[in-house]
Amino acid sequence: MESSQTKVAHYDDTVVRQFTIMAVVWGVVGMLVGVFIAAELTWPELNLGIPWLSYGRLRPLHTNAVIFAFGGCGLFATSYYVVQRTCQTRLFMPKLASLTFWAWQLVIVAAAISLPMGYTTGKEYAELEWPIDILIAITWVSYAVVFFGTVGTRKIKHIYVANWFFGGFIIAIALLHIVNSAEIPAGWMKSYSAYAGVQDAMVQWWYGHNAVGFYLTTAFLGMMYYFIPKQAGRPVYSYRLSIVHFWALIFTYMWAGPHHLHYTALPDWTQSVGMVFSLILLAPSWGGMINGMMTLSGAWHKLRDDPILRFLIVSLSFYGMSTFEGPMMSIKTVNALSHYTDWTVGHVHSGALGWVGLITMGSLYYLVPRLFGKDKMHSIKAIELHFWLATIGIVLYIAAMWIAGVMQGLMWRAVNPDGTLTYTFVESVKATYPFYAIRFFGGLLYLSGMIIMAWNVWVTAISGRSVKVAIPAVKTAHA
Ligand code: HEM
Ligand code: HEM
Repeated sequence: MESSQTKVAHYDDTVVRQFTIMAVVWGVVGMLVGVFIAAELTWPELNLGIPWLSYGRLRPLHTNAVIFAFGGCGLFATSYYVVQRTCQTRLFMPKLASLTFWAWQLVIVAAAISLPMGYTTGKEYAELEWPIDILIAITWVSYAVVFFGTVGTRKIKHIYVANWFFGGFIIAIALLHIVNSAEIPAGWMKSYSAYAGVQDAMVQWWYGHNAVGFYLTTAFLGMMYYFIPKQAGRPVYSYRLSIVHFWALIFTYMWAGPHHLHYTALPDWTQSVGMVFSLILLAPSWGGMINGMMTLSGAWHKLRDDPILRFLIVSLSFYGMSTFEGPMMSIKTVNALSHYTDWTVGHVHSGALGWVGLITMGSLYYLVPRLFGKDKMHSIKAIELHFWLATIGIVLYIAAMWIAGVMQGLMWRAVNPDGTLTYTFVESVKATYPFYAIRFFGGLLYLSGMIIMAWNVWVTAISGRSVKVAIPAVKTAHA
């Protein structure tokens, strides 16, 4: 029977379950493609002369699959879960929420078919052609309606900080996607950008950098602010700092895009503005990282035997690393060395595998048993094994790319006393070969961890049932 303090309701978790499962599935697929293209860079003949297996077509398939399919499904799942708990209400328009699930899967399948077929706009992270762009825009606006509708119909006054991060991400991505995808169709799967020349480049990297800033960072910080306190059983270290973190981050990110266009036709002052804002970004980024880490104060011992917490906390250390490295790479003289080299790829994957990957995995490990009516994951040992495979995989991947990147940069700029180049380009490619092999091996380890996760999630899910959750009528925003 219901007590006077408690009203029994249940959240709309079907859509959360659907997105959770698909995050794992797309994680395996996207990383498999990542490992395959890493193998192609090591052994180029692996494309077997088949156009749709060629590196140029599979590379965007990898980036779209890991960012928008794996990361995207993880974000839909966690944001729908968190917004209901922290607002103590059910999803606004659950049918629309369900539509976002099916529409997002349709986008992913359309990408998985059109990219290997060679259809692309040629804009990085925005490769999909205009009909798919329109579908993305519709899905995203529906997502915004569900999310903000839920916040708007909340049962408590306070809006918990995780929702600020998710909300900022949803608004910014709508803006970025719609502006950057402005294009003139020239057939069903062909279009031309509405912008030209250097403006096109600037709009593209305003989009590209904020895809990092809002999609790969702000959104996952939303996860961080909910799942770390939950798993650690401690309140956020400084709630005030979390609000400062939010506003400082979203204000600063928007200006940093030009650091992708150093030494180009972009006006020099614009490049310098991008560099300065990138350097400023270090402060809010590290403030957020420290806030997350310190949430564990008094509970550090939990790291010893809780592999889920380890995923979450180690992800933060990679967040700290990549947000230190990024500002350094945005300094023009450093960028003169790092740009075009594998250093950038190392930076990307310390953020992608270390931060985005680990925080998502940790959050999903928290979610799965709760969503499928179990008290814990089927195998804690398997989570432990996953953690170590992933961590060793990341270290091999990024260390190999850093060494290769700095080596390439130095080889390309080396000159003889008579002014001729010391090395031919192909010599630098040959020197990179062992590092590509190490990266392939690191990626393979990371992928095997993900496959173990898929097995663990599957076994946990099949014997479980959905739970009806009692929502306390009164209580904190951190429920
Ligand atoms: C303070 C934060 C950060 C700053 C200032 C920053 C800065 C930079 C710089 C300067 C580059 C190289 C641009 C070039 O030479 O072309 C870069 C590339 C990149 N960064 Fe970061 N970074 C930051 C954090 C992150 C994080 C957390 C991620 C998460 C995954 C990330 C993902 C990327 C990606 C995907 C690229 C490659 C873009 C491309 O395709 O060229 N960054 N970043
Ligand atoms: C098994 C794991 C993975 C492997 C083996 C892998 C491998 C690769 C390879 C070989 C490239 C192309 C690099 C180049 O063009 O030189 C690449 C690019 C990229 N990957 Fe991954 N990847 C993995 C996981 C991920 C994940 C989980 C994410 C994001 C969450 C991610 C995001 C990216 C991005 C953004 C790029 C483009 C980088 C740039 O343009 O500089 N990858 N990956």
